[in-house]
This record gives sequence, structure tokens and C-alpha cells, in this order.
Amino acid sequence: MMAKEPIVVAIDGYSSCGKSTTARALAHRLNFVYADSGALYRAVTLFFLRKKVNFSDLGEVNHALHNIQLDLRPIDGDLQVWLNGEDVTSEIRQMYVSDAVSEVAAIKAVREELLKVQQEMASQKSLVMDGRDIGTTVFPHAQLKIFMTADPKVRAQRRYKELTEKGEHTTYEEVFANLAHRDLIDTTRKESPLVQAQDAIVVDNTHLSKGEQLDLILGMVRAIIKSAENHGFA
Ligand code: CDP
Repeated sequence: MMAKEPIVVAIDGYSSCGKSTTARALAHRLNFVYADSGALYRAVTLFFLRKKVNFSDLGEVNHALHNIQLDLRPIDGDLQVWLNGEDVTSEIRQMYVSDAVSEVAAIKAVREELLKVQQEMASQKSLVMDGRDIGTTVFPHAQLKIFMTADPKVRAQRRYKELTEKGEHTTYEEVFANLAHRDLIDTTRKESPLVQAQDAIVVDNTHLSKGEQLDLILGMVRAIIKSAENHGFA
């Protein structure tokens, strides 16, 4: 049974620690909306790269932001990312986008713009959103906040496998360096850095399978739904 009061689940954590996989599966099992905030930052980055926007020129950044239309579309249990009417779902996962995304995500104007886009996604329907600042900035009142982490070598190995299976030519070392680079920028930037919310539950999935991790978090959400029902909120 679904609670009537919409529930927001915020999943934050380091690069490539399985947030998106878990968030997508969780939303599917619970019939919640799934939103991948990282995909929005990646789509903005793709646009900036294509238009050769100088990241340190605020005028250029603002002009570009005014010309971006983003859309996350749930299709067949998957999430498509559309940028100005073009499906960029695969393109935004390429390494050249990963290499620039954290610089773009550190820009205040970009974060302010995407904050609006993300908050507008919370409607009458319960939602799972993953990212870096969801539990701290985007939805500070989320009923469940997860802070995900895993051994950096395991994270790099998983992402390397994922990329090579998709046909991307890269090396384990390159992937490891990219994750370390992004983690550093994401945790040290001035604008809403990646930090564990005080009331977040830490889930280290280094030794957990995807299924085990999903069951663990699913149990947490179900407990919240049950408690809401018992207290007459549902
Ligand atoms: O899937 P992966 O962990 O590689 O990253 P992602 O979730 O697609 O996010 C890509 C990048 O966007 C991150 O490295 C951050 O720099 C930025 N990001 C952010 O700053 N805030 C968010 N809420 C989500 C992503």
C-alpha cells in the first residue's frame, strides 16, 4: 500500500558508488518517480562543451543556461535525458563529459538553475532522487536520506566494466583518476559540496550485491511508509 503523503528518498554519495542503479530499482519497486540529478549536470555540461562556453565567464554561462531545456522522461522503467529536444541519454555518459562535469557542477549559477529544476520534480507523487546535495540542499526535509559509499577501487572497477561493456575505449586507470578528480571537486567546492547530511544513514556497498543493497534500502522505505500509516498520516 502506498502512503498518501508523498515520500522523498534522497540518495547522495561519491562518484560511481551505485546510487543511480539503486535509486532506479527502488523507484521501480515502489512505483515512485525516479530522478537522476547527475544526468541534469551532465546534460548542461554537454551543452557547454558543444557551445564552447568558457566556464569562468559568468556572462557566457548565464547566456547558455537561458538556452537550455532539460527533460527527464521515464520510458519502460528507464530514464531518458533530453536536451533541447534531443535524446542525449548515452552521450552524457561518455568520458569526455565525465571529465568536465564536476567543473561545471561547481558553478553557482548552474547549481541555482538546476536547484529549481530538481525541486519542481517533487509533486504529488513520491520520489527517489540521487546526487550529491539532495539530502542537504535540494530536499533537506526528505523522509529518508542515504549516504552511499564504497571502496574507490571497487567503484572504479564497476564503472570501468560498465563503460567497456558499452563499447567505450578507456582504461581502469583513466576511470579511477576521473572518479578521484570528481570526488575531490565535489567534496571541496564552495557551493553545496558533497557532504553527509546529519540525519543520513550511511550505506557502504563495497561488499554488497545490487540485490542486497536494494533490499536493505527497500526495507527502510517500507518502515517509513508503515510508520506513516500507523500515525494516521496515510
Ligand atoms: O553516476 P556518477 O556517480 O558517475 O555521477 P553522476 O551522478 O552522473 O554526477 C555527475 C557529476 O555531477 C558529479 O560528479 C558532480 O560533480 C555533479 N553532481 C552534483 O554536483 N550534484 C548533484 N546533485 C548531482 C551531480
